[in-house]
Amino acid sequence: MNITLSVLKADVGGFVGHSSSHPEVVETARQALGKAKKSGLLIDYHITICGDDLELIMTHQQGEESQAIHKLAWDTFVECTQVARRLKLHGAGQDLLAEAFSGNVKGMGPGVAEMQFQEREAETVLIFMADKTSAGAWNMPLYKIFADPFNTIGLVIAANMHNGFAFEVHDIKEHKKITFSAPEEIYDLLVFIGAPSRYAVKAVYHRDTKEIAAVSSTQRLALIAGRYVGKDDPVCIVRSQGQFPAVGEILEPFSMPGLVEGWMRGSHHGPLMPVAVRDANPSRFDGPPRVTCAGFQIAQGRLIGPRDMFDDPAFDPARRWTNDIAEYLRRHGPFEPHRLPLEEMEYTTMPQVAKKLEGRFLPLE
Ligand code: F6R
Ligand code: MG
Ligand code: MG
Repeated sequence: MNITLSVLKADVGGFVGHSSSHPEVVETARQALGKAKKSGLLIDYHITICGDDLELIMTHQQGEESQAIHKLAWDTFVECTQVARRLKLHGAGQDLLAEAFSGNVKGMGPGVAEMQFQEREAETVLIFMADKTSAGAWNMPLYKIFADPFNTIGLVIAANMHNGFAFEVHDIKEHKKITFSAPEEIYDLLVFIGAPSRYAVKAVYHRDTKEIAAVSSTQRLALIAGRYVGKDDPVCIVRSQGQFPAVGEILEPFSMPGLVEGWMRGSHHGPLMPVAVRDANPSRFDGPPRVTCAGFQIAQGRLIGPRDMFDDPAFDPARRWTNDIAEYLRRHGPFEPHRLPLEEMEYTTMPQVAKKLEGRFLPLE
C-alpha cells in the first residue's frame, strides 16, 4: 500500500507565554482532522504538542505537497488561531505568515516534513519534534544515525545497510541543494552540515534501494519574514528497522544533548533535552530547547501508537547533563557563545539597536 505520511506544524499561540499549548486548541485541531478522516481525505491522524507548537501527524494517499492536505492543515491552524485569540493566548497565529492559503503551506510559516512510501511488512516510524530551536538541529543526530558506526552498529554488521545512505543537504540561504554519499563523502558532507544555521539535512535515502529513510522540515521563519518571528521548531520523520537503523540506533544520538540555536528569544545556544511529551514545556529562560519523539507502527495507513519514546529512565542522564550544561551556559549571560553570533542576531534584535545608534558610531583614526 502506497502511503504518504505528512507532519505539518505551527505555533498558533502559547499557553502560558511561549511555554506550552492550550488543551482547547488541541481539541479544535482534533475535531478538524476527525472530520477529514470521516470524509476519507485522511486515513488516520494524531495530534500532539511540543511546547507551544501544534503538531499534525497525518496519513493519506494524496502524495507529498498535496493541495488538499496542505489546505486542511492551514485551515486547521487558522481555526486554532481563532481559539487562541479568544483565549488571548500569547502570540496567537504567530507562525501563519501569509494572509491566505495559496496552494501549499511551504513558505507560509508552518513547518512541513512529508514522505511517501510503500508500506513494508512492518512499518516502523519515529517522529521527532522540537521546540525553542531551529532548522538544522537534526544535522548532528541524522549524521550519527545514518553515517556514524560508533552510533549505528548496523552500518558495520547489517548487510542491508552496509553500503550506506545518501544525504540531501539544503543551503537554506541560497536555496540550493546537493546530495552526498556516505560513507565515501563524509568529510565533504561534514564541511557543510557542521554549519547547521546555513546547511540543513533535508532528507536521507537508502543507497541500494533508493528508499526514503528520513525527512526534516527546513523552513527558516526569519528568512521568510525578513525579521525575527520566533524560531522554527523543526520536525523530522525517520523510518526504522529492517534496511533502516533500529529504533535504539535512531534514539541513541539524543543521549548527548547537543548544542542548538534557539532558547530565549531565539537568540541563544542551548543543549537539546530529550523529554517525554508531558515534559515538553520549556520554562527556564524559555528553555532549554526540547525534543520529543512519537513512535508508530503503520498498518494500512493507520497510525498504531504513539509510544512516547523518550519516556525512558535511560535518558535521565541526558536530562541531568542538559541541566548542567544549561546552568553553565546561563552564567555567560549576554555573552557569546551563549548568545548567538552576530550573523544570526541579524534576524533578531540587533538591527533595531544598530539603527538607533547609527549616528553615534564615529570612524576610528
Ligand atoms: C523563543 C520564544 C521565546 C520568546 C520570548 C519573548 O523561540 O518563543 O523565548 O522569544 O518569550 O516573546 P514575545 O516577544 O512574544 O514577548
Ligand atoms: Mg511561541
Ligand atoms: Mg515553539
